Amino acid sequence: MSSRSRSPLDVSLDVLAELPPLRREVFEARLARWLPDLREAVEPLYDDAETVVCRLLSLAASAYAAREDELHRLDLRRSLEPDWFQRPDVIGYAAYADRFAGTLAGVAERTDYLKELGVGYLHLMPLLLPRPNPNDGGYAVQDYHSVRPDLGTMEDLRKLTRRLREEGISLCLDLVLNHVAREHEWARRARAGEQRYRDYFLVFPGLEMPDAYERTLPEVFPHFSPGNFTWDDELEGWVWTTFNDYQWDVNWANPDVLCEYADIIFDLANHGVEVLRLDAIAFIWKRLGTSCQNQPEVHDLTQALHALTRIACPAMVFKAEAIVGPQDLLAYLGEGRHHGKVSDLAYHNSLMVQIWSMLASQDAVLGSRALQELPPPPSTTSWITYARCHDDIGWAVSDEDASAVGLDGSAHRRFLSDFYSGEFPGSWARGLVFQENEATGDRRISGSLASLAGLEIGDPDAVRRILLAHAIIFGFGGLPVIWMGDELGLLNDPEWDSVPEHAEDNRWAHRPRMPWPVPADTHRIQRGVRALVRARSTLPHLHASVSAEVLGPRDPSVFLVARRHPLGPMLGAYNMKAEPRHVPLEVLHTVGLDPARVVDHLTGSAPVVRDDAVQLPPYAAAWLVERS
Ligand code: GLC
Repeated sequence: MSSRSRSPLDVSLDVLAELPPLRREVFEARLARWLPDLREAVEPLYDDAETVVCRLLSLAASAYAAREDELHRLDLRRSLEPDWFQRPDVIGYAAYADRFAGTLAGVAERTDYLKELGVGYLHLMPLLLPRPNPNDGGYAVQDYHSVRPDLGTMEDLRKLTRRLREEGISLCLDLVLNHVAREHEWARRARAGEQRYRDYFLVFPGLEMPDAYERTLPEVFPHFSPGNFTWDDELEGWVWTTFNDYQWDVNWANPDVLCEYADIIFDLANHGVEVLRLDAIAFIWKRLGTSCQNQPEVHDLTQALHALTRIACPAMVFKAEAIVGPQDLLAYLGEGRHHGKVSDLAYHNSLMVQIWSMLASQDAVLGSRALQELPPPPSTTSWITYARCHDDIGWAVSDEDASAVGLDGSAHRRFLSDFYSGEFPGSWARGLVFQENEATGDRRISGSLASLAGLEIGDPDAVRRILLAHAIIFGFGGLPVIWMGDELGLLNDPEWDSVPEHAEDNRWAHRPRMPWPVPADTHRIQRGVRALVRARSTLPHLHASVSAEVLGPRDPSVFLVARRHPLGPMLGAYNMKAEPRHVPLEVLHTVGLDPARVVDHLTGSAPVVRDDAVQLPPYAAAWLVERS
């Protein structure tokens, strides 16, 4: 065929001509399947959408051609088991590589620990080269194509992914897509006056536009970094900085930015990274007069990137880090035309917040209402269920949910901040107030799971609360992720502020170092967590393709979650109170469980039934299913 008659799309795929026929056909088959999704996503975003599609596909084809055989095999395996992250025998673990094991090679040496715990997914916190401190715990990336030198090299990353894969563990890394460090090459070249790179950012000559945006923008770090714009002398302009002043928001309305990130994604995929945590994804599209979060274009961009990975490296999975209110959360797993086409995983921030709210109030009414309002996610996706992570807890309790159960939203959020900072009379929690916002009264909370649950002050119910929180995240259905150290009941790190560059940021209180060798299990937390992992792995009802259905509580202190699996129903019952409570047998009937055949999968025995109700000891969990 003469080059004149070849379409721009054909030209963009030229690199495929060098591949063996079968490999080329595989790419073409995937292209036929996913090109419509890619076009549909890019179309509304850019003027010359087809040119952008061709540029993206050219990058995808090159990445595909460079992908090593072992990863092509992984692509095949993953397309045969696309539900690997939904299965009940997979749990996740999240840690800083250095705090867990020193270096990437050190992490590889600790795979036995992870395997033994039942981990099938490991999220290592930011490890690509950040700017020198301060760098927001690595979330200010200077180079996405190299690893922090104290942790290793890109080659070490490749070795680590191989080692983990041998053990059945998928590696998840952060992809910071809202911003780059002021020292990143794009920012450096923008500062040096290159217009091409200035257009990668949102730069304004005067304050007129920034002020107009500020009218509706919230502040993420009102203490460290008030406002959303930073003056830069070299740029001679105000640059958009949602987070810290050294984290420059990139301009996703510029198609060059989309192409750059596609290239980064392919590079990480070809190093064997299997999951990308799309950091701060809610913020990537800006619109005047809005909070500049959760804009519809965010989901188009994700769909475009997702379709590209399906074509070039389908073993890759996306996890949305959208810590947003319940009404905006589901869109990250795909709503409407994006259904099943965006992220595969998303943090269940509402569940995490409600676990803490239920524990503090010893009441499940608000939590049940808030979680009942959330529609089920697409059956091919999964929530990340978690009780703690490396960040603070923001009290994402909506005013509507609060008033629907007779509470005042702001009073309840105030109560939670008072409770978890330990100020509330009788509180067992020992958290720290993070980023108090005087204007809104908002006070977020830092603290390790164990310190927030009362272990720091030796509260007699602390261990029960720790295990109850784990039972909820393991029994909800989704991919539960343990934050490093929670499985040991690690307390807040009393030395957290001794590192000068951390002293301003008390989130480091709950980012401890792993105390090898693993300490003795004095409180029996390790034993309890492992028992839950084991119980979960043998309960098919927990496959995430079936969604959790939160029931209205009959007893206000008992959180009830039904799962209607084709194999039979399951009822999770969680007593949030320090007193014995119960579940009326009528609830079992409602979900289709025959009380005569019911067994608590957590104990392996029939539950205690008295007065027509299943009895639950203080802070107990029960996973009720029918005996098979
Ligand atoms: C995410 C990270 C958080 C970081 C922020 C900015 O929310 O979890 O730690 O500060 O993004 O990158």
